[in-house]
Formats: sequence, structure tokens, C-alpha cells
Amino acid sequence: MADIDKLLRPHLAEVQAYDPVDPPELLAKQAGIPEDQIVKLNGNENPYGGSPKAMEAVANTPLHIYPDPLQRKIRQALSEYTGANADSIIVGAGADELIDLLFRLFMNPGDKMLDFDPTFGMYSFCARVAGGIVEYVPRDELFDLDVEAAKRAIDDRTKIIFVTSPNNPTGNLASEEHIRELLDTGLIVVVDEAYFEFCNQTVSHLVGEYENLVILRTMSKWAGLAGLRVGYGIMSPKLVNHIIDIKPPYSVNVAAEAALVASIEDAPALLKNVQKIVDERDRMDMLLKETTGVTPWPSFGNYILCQFAPGRAKQVFKQLASRGIFVRDFSSKRLVDCFRVAVGTPAETDAFISALREIV
Ligand SMILES: Cc1ncc(COP(=O)(O)O)c(C=O)c1O
Repeated sequence: MADIDKLLRPHLAEVQAYDPVDPPELLAKQAGIPEDQIVKLNGNENPYGGSPKAMEAVANTPLHIYPDPLQRKIRQALSEYTGANADSIIVGAGADELIDLLFRLFMNPGDKMLDFDPTFGMYSFCARVAGGIVEYVPRDELFDLDVEAAKRAIDDRTKIIFVTSPNNPTGNLASEEHIRELLDTGLIVVVDEAYFEFCNQTVSHLVGEYENLVILRTMSKWAGLAGLRVGYGIMSPKLVNHIIDIKPPYSVNVAAEAALVASIEDAPALLKNVQKIVDERDRMDMLLKETTGVTPWPSFGNYILCQFAPGRAKQVFKQLASRGIFVRDFSSKRLVDCFRVAVGTPAETDAFISALREIV
């Protein structure tokens, strides 16, 4: 009998896995509620879906031909959308694929990455898979970056620093001043702007100035293409070429390519949906402030972090779930008394707020 455990790379034998969200049918089954009646606010998904033009483009795409490994058409479309040169853009199967590729490119086993905790869990997950060491730099009491602590944590094994702006799940922005300070260390600084369209704040104008800067964006949120998996990065052409050299050539599929191009053509309509979500975020924030027992953190994304009294968040989370309302909870120490709720449609906000008020 083969013992595959003996063949595994030792650091992967018991690696801490990523904690993903379950699909709607499973959530509905768990709650004992029909799928069309659940309120799914745990994935920061776009409640208005993708562009109808993207759906049409996907339906009209031949599926038997491989995609362009050099991504000419989609990089050009993104160049027009972002204003960055096409040779500074690389597209991945979600921003997630680019996060993984950055670790493959820069991290030897035993190298370190700096992670401003709490933040999006994919960075530390990909670092662990690459055999790297995750050095957590706690955010301050307002969840702002502690750049001095980050600089103190750097040693000659540190390769890469991840900054999320707006940060998931806390909703706050990183300042350009802090990002410049981190860039001046000379390490790779990845600024994840997955929620850029919900705040219009970016440091992409620094790409020409710093070869060590990587901007990450995604079509999952503003364009509602989370299920198709398409995200992109903006960085120096040199770094783009290194990523192309190691990237699985066809990871961005032809349906995602077609949907990306059609979504960019339809950007004005999609950005109207973004504006609806931003308006709804402000309404939800106001309703939360009027609800006793919960404090919303200010947010620049399409979600709000809700703070509860010690020990209360998990109970509220469970009671919401039993009513078919799903939000995102966290196991980390800093966030045990919080959950994150995505901004959905006005009807979804009303369902969430009225259930929350009954519970608290
Ligand atoms: C900060 C952040 N970055 C990246 C992603 C993943 O993006 P994608 O769907 O393009 O892989 C997410 C998804 O929730 C996110 O919150």
C-alpha cells in the first residue's frame, strides 16, 4: 500500500486551509429554507449580478478554442478602463490567482511576508502554501497600518508586504503616505484594491515610480463576475513579464475573457449599480447606528464590519443564519466580537436589519 503522506511536502501535510464561504444551496439546506428565500450577505458579492451584455457575450463565445496566453484583447480593454498601459497589466483567474503567483515568484520556503492583521485571509494562506512565514503586524485601534511596527519586523528574509485598501473586512483605506513608506523599504508591496470602484481611491499612479509596487483589482465586485474568476494586476512591465513566465497560460478562460470585455463596454451601467450599492451602504450604516447593541465600522467597500459586545457576535451570527440570513464571521482574536455584512439590495438590508433588531 502506498503511503502518500510520506510523499507530501512536509509543510503541506497539515497546512491551515483557507476558510471559504459555502454555496447558496448548502446554506439554504442548513437553514431549512428554500434557496430563493435566503439572504446571502457573506461573500461581498454584487447583488445586481453581472452585465446582461456579459451574459450574452459568454453565450456567444466558442468554447473549443484555448484562450490567448498573452491576453492581448483583455489587457487592451483593461488599459482603456484603467488608463494604465496594456504592458503593465496582467489578468488572473481572480485576483486570488495573482496573489498565489506573487508568492511563487518571490517566496522561497522560510522567507517572510508581512500581513497587516486583521485582513483578507488569502495572503497568509498562499504564503503558508508556498512554505513562507507569515509575520502578523497588528493594525492599530482604528485598524490603521502600523508602519513603524512593520519596518521593525523586516529582516533579511522578508520579501513581500500586503496592504488592502479598502481593507477587507474592516473597510478602512490605507494612506498614500503609509504606502510610500512601505515602498521605500524596497520590498514587494502589493496594494489590493479589490473594492476600488466603491471608493475611487487608488495608488495606481505610483506604478511608474516604484518597480516594487503591485496593484491588484478584480471584476468580481463592481462588475459582478465573482463566479467567472477574473481579476488583474497593474505593475511594471518587467514584473508582468516575470508573472507571464510562471503563469499557467490558459488560466483565464474564454468565457471570463468575453465577459470582461463586454463588462468594460458596459461600464457606465455597471457603475450605476456600484453607486446604488454605495448609497445602500450609507443607508445600512445609518440603520445600524440606530440599532442598539451593534456598532458599525465606517466602510469604503461594499460591506460593513459590525462590532458587538464581548461574546455576543457569534450568538447573533447563529440566530441570523437560522433565519436564512448569512453574514461572515471570523475566528481571529481581534474579530471574535464582529461579523461582516455585505451590502445587498434595499430589500436585503431591510430583512437583515429587522432580523438583527429582533435578535439584539
Ligand atoms: C481584498 C480582496 N482581494 C481579493 C479578493 C478576491 O478577488 P477575486 O474574486 O478576483 O479572486 C477579495 C474577495 O473577496 C478580496 O476581498
